[in-house]
Amino acid sequence: MKRKIGILTSGGDCPGLNAAIRGVAKASYGMFDCKIIGIQDGFKGLIEGRYKEMNSTDFSGILTRGGTILGTARTPFKKMRKIDDDGVDKVKSMVKTYNKLELDCLITLGGNGTHKNANLLREEGLNVIGLPKTIDNDIWGTDISFGFHSALDIATEVIDRIHTTADSHDRVMIIELMGHKAGWLTLYAGIAGGADVILIPELPYNEDRIIDALNMRKKSGKDFSIIVVAEGAISEEEALMSKSDFKTYREEQGYSAVSYRLADAITNRTEFETRVTVPGHQQRGGSPSAYDRVLSTTLGAFAAEMIANEDYGKTISIINNVAKTTPLEEMASKLKLVTKEEKLLTTARLVGVSFG
Ligand code: F6P
Repeated sequence: MKRKIGILTSGGDCPGLNAAIRGVAKASYGMFDCKIIGIQDGFKGLIEGRYKEMNSTDFSGILTRGGTILGTARTPFKKMRKIDDDGVDKVKSMVKTYNKLELDCLITLGGNGTHKNANLLREEGLNVIGLPKTIDNDIWGTDISFGFHSALDIATEVIDRIHTTADSHDRVMIIELMGHKAGWLTLYAGIAGGADVILIPELPYNEDRIIDALNMRKKSGKDFSIIVVAEGAISEEEALMSKSDFKTYREEQGYSAVSYRLADAITNRTEFETRVTVPGHQQRGGSPSAYDRVLSTTLGAFAAEMIANEDYGKTISIINNVAKTTPLEEMASKLKLVTKEEKLLTTARLVGVSFG
């Protein structure tokens, strides 16, 4: 059996991408005769015909390396079927590159956008396998995606460090974490870091309730407070607005970061001295956690088994710690968000966390 495999990483990078690439390569080399083509910068490279024939040595020494050796780019799904101003038909170009390289399959490592693009290529008749990557952990159908655990460690470390300085200065410290639509990272890191207030996009907040929570802490003798907020958290008022009203409202406010708006509100309405920390892309940088190394290797090796079995058109999901497959068409346009029934919300409330 001989296989020619294309592999790409797409969307925002995160720790664990290289470990997953290595997992696919090592297990494939071990199981069947194969040639691996590294597509550069995700779907962009597939469109532009930029790739590199890889050797087994390319996959050595990358288990612990952050980022992606293949490069990545964001290529929004909604623009995929639109012809560019320069006349480029992106879908046709991707199919052309795949056929020109005579690939047997294409492995796509990425988040929600990547899975939508992977499903589009499946519809075009290509053999595609998806691997779930995102620090947001919002890919539908899988309990966990690689990158999440590493980001959680980083975010928790940030909260731990902020905790000690908050205590020394008796301040309200606001830490803004990544997550536009999904609050998983903020929820987990908030609990792991012992936050007093956790604000996530799925549960719109009320400023009064946040201030009540801070005052209650003060009354109970705690002179500092930690608020962990997801970048996509919105207020109850904002949740009622139409998309365009919301956009205008945010523009009128001058800056869009929720953490700074909250800090202003707390400063104006209370006596608390307030500071903001935004760790930003640090959450996506550096070496993968031990957990993510194992997860990425598991997913990569499982993908190689799928290639051996010609089991295409699917992504790999981890359900109750077991790797399974989910059809791309079933999961590609869905998001896994924090629901009101999430057990961790109860846990957090039981230990006194306010969700605003
Ligand atoms: O999708 C992962 C993610 O890290 C989000 O949490 C964050 O909002 C976004 O990417 C940031 O994207 P960019 O790297 O394009 O600024």
